[in-house]
Amino acid sequence: MSIKEANKYIEKNKIDKNEKPLFHVTAPIGWINDPNGFSYYKGNIHLFYQYHPYSINWGPMHWGHVMSKDMINWVDLPVALAPTEEFDKEGCFSGSAIETEKGHILVYTGVSKIKCEAGEEIRQNQYIAVGDGVKYEKLTTPVVSGNMLPENCSKIDFRDPKIWKENEKYYMVVGNKTKDNIGQVLLFSSDNIMEWKFENVICKSDGTLGHVWECPDFFTLLDKDILICSPQNLKAKEYEFHNGHNSVYFVGKLDRDKYEYTYDDIYSLDYGLDFYAPQTTLLPDGRRVLIAWLQSWDSLYTPESQKWQGMMTLPREISFVNGKIIQKPVKEIENYYQNKVQYEDYIIKDRCKIPNIDGRIIDMTLEISGNNYNEFSLDLANNDEYATKVTYKKNKGILEIDRNYSGVKKDIVCYRAMKVSEKNNVLKLRFILDKNSIEIFVNDGEKTSSNVIYTPLNAKDIIFDTDGQVQLNILKYDIVL
Ligand code: FRU
Repeated sequence: MSIKEANKYIEKNKIDKNEKPLFHVTAPIGWINDPNGFSYYKGNIHLFYQYHPYSINWGPMHWGHVMSKDMINWVDLPVALAPTEEFDKEGCFSGSAIETEKGHILVYTGVSKIKCEAGEEIRQNQYIAVGDGVKYEKLTTPVVSGNMLPENCSKIDFRDPKIWKENEKYYMVVGNKTKDNIGQVLLFSSDNIMEWKFENVICKSDGTLGHVWECPDFFTLLDKDILICSPQNLKAKEYEFHNGHNSVYFVGKLDRDKYEYTYDDIYSLDYGLDFYAPQTTLLPDGRRVLIAWLQSWDSLYTPESQKWQGMMTLPREISFVNGKIIQKPVKEIENYYQNKVQYEDYIIKDRCKIPNIDGRIIDMTLEISGNNYNEFSLDLANNDEYATKVTYKKNKGILEIDRNYSGVKKDIVCYRAMKVSEKNNVLKLRFILDKNSIEIFVNDGEKTSSNVIYTPLNAKDIIFDTDGQVQLNILKYDIVL
């Protein structure tokens, strides 16, 4: 299907904005997954996404497109790429974008099939499309192809190029695995964005870190080189990784002469139920901003009446503090605050509601303190039938989310726990709710938890509870666009 057909279908079938989250990026109709091409171009912030407009399920991948000045208020633009050519007929898979003198350049994975002895085999190669911020023209030969790879690298799982420029040179990291299923990230370089050279396998699993390392990203924060990727099929590890698709970051250093990457640590980027394929961009004001798919491959659900599936996280400003990435919602959200409600030293002893503390489109921060309790919990998106429970188990130092009563009617994962710790005897939790999502920022972004809920919108109470006595500072705003 061509771009024209896709846009015509979308125009005819797009759903009322009120049926969707308010300020999180969603598609006009249909399915979305990974964020792609997150970039600044000629005064606007552009975001593309893996898109199948024709159903609520994954299908031949297009690139959907939105644009914003402030990353809160987004406008839909026409579909930017469709899988129309022999070389990308199986899909225009994930990639990135960069502002250049030649225009806005998209780098994406073209997926095709070749004939081989066994019948057919998939090939993934990296292609370029050049555009003006609305329309994009594909170049018909790959700029980086599987033929450039060392012998043991898979040509079948070779995707998701992330491009950047450093000291007049362009670089690209691409996700890959070895022929024996070990996840790895490959580095390429170029002087002119058109001719590329394979440099090295810069990072590789020791065999315990999953299969294909999808959607890599690479950037410097303070003096550290951060490598992000999303490994498939991880095994759960204590509170750090969960089974299945995870998104992780390495903290290390790239030797720019030998193109060797060494790292000290690896951490999860998010500890919630729904977070995958994050991508960052550097804004002209110096902020590095991260956005991810607010969904899970293995554990997703679509209510019968819902005509859209998938959304993005709130964009997050990231920084590096005490050896770890800190994530904070972009500050522009504050421009949409209304109806401030504030309490200081509010005492909770039993299950209770607090006047004017409710809602499904809110930004609420709690500072939780006290020494006479073991558990403190919140029922969000609550009414007689529904609740999403967030519980702080003080004695164990964990924070749990339980969405069993959040409108889910399938056997998907509904519970996850993460380690948290108090700072000066206070645990600070910021909750951002946008109808179908709950994002939690712990201690000013030290850890995050991103979660989708399917709860009907009339469930909007918030109930507080404890087995002892808790003291709360509360600050809550509605978000209004
Ligand atoms: C990650 C991913 C990418 C791929 C895309 C296809 O979620 O599998 O590796 O490019 O989705 O839609």
